Amino acid sequence: MRRRSPIQTAVFPVAGRGTRFLPATKASPKEMLPVVDKPLIQYAVEEALAAGARRLVFVTGASKRAIEDHFDSDQELEQLLEQQGKSDLLRQLRSVLPSYATCIYIRQPAPLGLGHAVLCARPAVGDEPFFVHLADDLIDAEQPVLAQMSDVYAARQASVIGCQVVPRAETGKYGIVATQGRGDTRRIHGIVEKPRPSAAPSTLAVVGRYLLTPRIFDHLERIGRGAGGEIQLTDGIARLLDEEAVYAHRFVGTRYDCGSKLGYLQATVDYALAHPELGAAFGAHLRRVVQGRPKKR
Ligand code: G1P
Repeated sequence: MRRRSPIQTAVFPVAGRGTRFLPATKASPKEMLPVVDKPLIQYAVEEALAAGARRLVFVTGASKRAIEDHFDSDQELEQLLEQQGKSDLLRQLRSVLPSYATCIYIRQPAPLGLGHAVLCARPAVGDEPFFVHLADDLIDAEQPVLAQMSDVYAARQASVIGCQVVPRAETGKYGIVATQGRGDTRRIHGIVEKPRPSAAPSTLAVVGRYLLTPRIFDHLERIGRGAGGEIQLTDGIARLLDEEAVYAHRFVGTRYDCGSKLGYLQATVDYALAHPELGAAFGAHLRRVVQGRPKKR
């Protein structure tokens, strides 16, 4: 059932070139990489819809037409499936995007960083709190992570960042937060982009889910380039902390870093094992592989 939510808009920054997956991502966006039978961006959209969003804002760059096509209806394909009597596939195709949802595409004119991408979405978001979802971070959770964060917002009326503890050796890959208080939802008093392990204020890392108040836009407009010469969302959040409460929420769920080949393969294996039609046969295949027996053809 669709949740009633104060958060109507989800922003999907999808302008990155996905260089880690070249040549697969030369002509096709990394967000279109499938995990079993759905592209990453569809998992992202489903999570946002499950948290009550209905306005979906994609901040796109070069080679991203496939994302627009994916969420568009395809009359020709639908007719073909109808003629062939493939009603199951037809139903799946039609449910990619419910009729109450609206897609908005905004082009990021230059790859100036995640903070800049979010700023590009401002005209579509307006003066309301909104989600930011990074499709690379696939999170398998009983209650979708954005919905968990929406519950935190309902209780605290403040920005919420999805976080997870990472090994100290890996702090240089993430935004890292310093928090106060106890429990799974804690107030953030510091945030820094990709610190060296020795300089990291904690091992609590930001993982691709944000619920932000619109005040963030004013800060993103004013901050200059940060780590890697890019306009960093993390730096905008650091400014927001000076005037509003921001909470880190340690979500419940398993996260796969689908921006890395290993994480992507791990997601593929786990989602295939859990797939209602494939799980049993794929599990049997994996057992044969692990036991080193020759493959049955
Ligand atoms: C971005 C953010 C970083 C965050 C990470 C989560 O980095 O800048 O703060 O921890 O996403 O995946 P990226 O992975 O785009 O370099």
